[in-house]
Amino acid sequence: MQNNKITLIQPDDWHLHLRSGAALKAVAKFSAAQMGRGIIMPNLNPPVLSAADAQAYQAEILAALPADSTFEPLMVLYLTDQTTPKTIADAAQSVTAAKLYPAGATTNSASGVSNISNIYPALEMMQKLAVPLLVHGEVTRPEVDIFDREAVFIDEILSKVTADFPDLKIVFEHITTKNAVDFVLAASAKIAATITPQHLLKNRNDMLAGGIKPHNYCLPVLKRLSHQQALIQAATSGNPKFFLGTDSAPHSKNDKESACGCAGVFSAPYAIELYAQAFFDAGELDKLEDFASKFGADFYGLKQNSQRITLQKQDWKVATEFAFAGGVIVPFMAGQTLSWQLV
Ligand code: DOR
Ligand code: ZN
Repeated sequence: MQNNKITLIQPDDWHLHLRSGAALKAVAKFSAAQMGRGIIMPNLNPPVLSAADAQAYQAEILAALPADSTFEPLMVLYLTDQTTPKTIADAAQSVTAAKLYPAGATTNSASGVSNISNIYPALEMMQKLAVPLLVHGEVTRPEVDIFDREAVFIDEILSKVTADFPDLKIVFEHITTKNAVDFVLAASAKIAATITPQHLLKNRNDMLAGGIKPHNYCLPVLKRLSHQQALIQAATSGNPKFFLGTDSAPHSKNDKESACGCAGVFSAPYAIELYAQAFFDAGELDKLEDFASKFGADFYGLKQNSQRITLQKQDWKVATEFAFAGGVIVPFMAGQTLSWQLV
């Protein structure tokens, strides 16, 4: 690394929403321009429930990529109360992982799991076949405060699952609290976590103080500054349990700027520049490559990418919007200045 340039192994996005249809066609090129691979979230409507669904969705993604793209979509099965050990066994060759959405936790989670015990037979088979479990870690009981839902999930659900399935690989997705950092640190090497750019760069004041900022609203929701600081510390620590997953989740401008705005931050066009900003601000830019390009592949037991990307130190402004499925979409940090630019 020189003072004004940094070259990295090409990163991967271990948590990405690409949607389908016109939305997919609008956003696929952004991840393809930066990332080698993406773990593609299965919360479509209807969701990705079987090997056949995963294969069809992967074909749709490949068809939506630019002709010269080498981006590799890694598919994920959506777990429901009806997912059986046979569903897992049948899909194990077609997917890289399976995702737990607690029913009602977030966008398109209505078909999710209503009680963790309902998927215990499926988890048993995942453990046996070495299919990793990806977790949206929030409880959904209405009496639990939205800022506490991740911490309660750890206490009530995740501690139990990790104890009951000690050999199951688990990625605690888009962690947002010091509680989650501490849990992952104390857990076995089978347990890792992804961290988004918005949870590194923002806290709940950036969403709620001085007027509601709907483009900073996602789930799990941004937490207070002390949690943001714990996430920055974890991401830049060099601990291989923490790696890149943007959770880039496209929703149209109209759906975000609404009386009932959708949850999701769209970061795909500048994902690596956003992470570079967070690591640069922390004085830890030399830790970015491990987090962005090595630890995720290592955890999944996949090869690191062979290509390289270069970032240069140069102030530039994020676009204010992009065309999107008949409307427009506003990216994370629209119109704001970032310090590192992809060459
Ligand atoms: O903010 C979010 N948006 N969190 C999720 O868990 C889902 C995602 C989406 O699909 O829009
Ligand atoms: Zn997500």
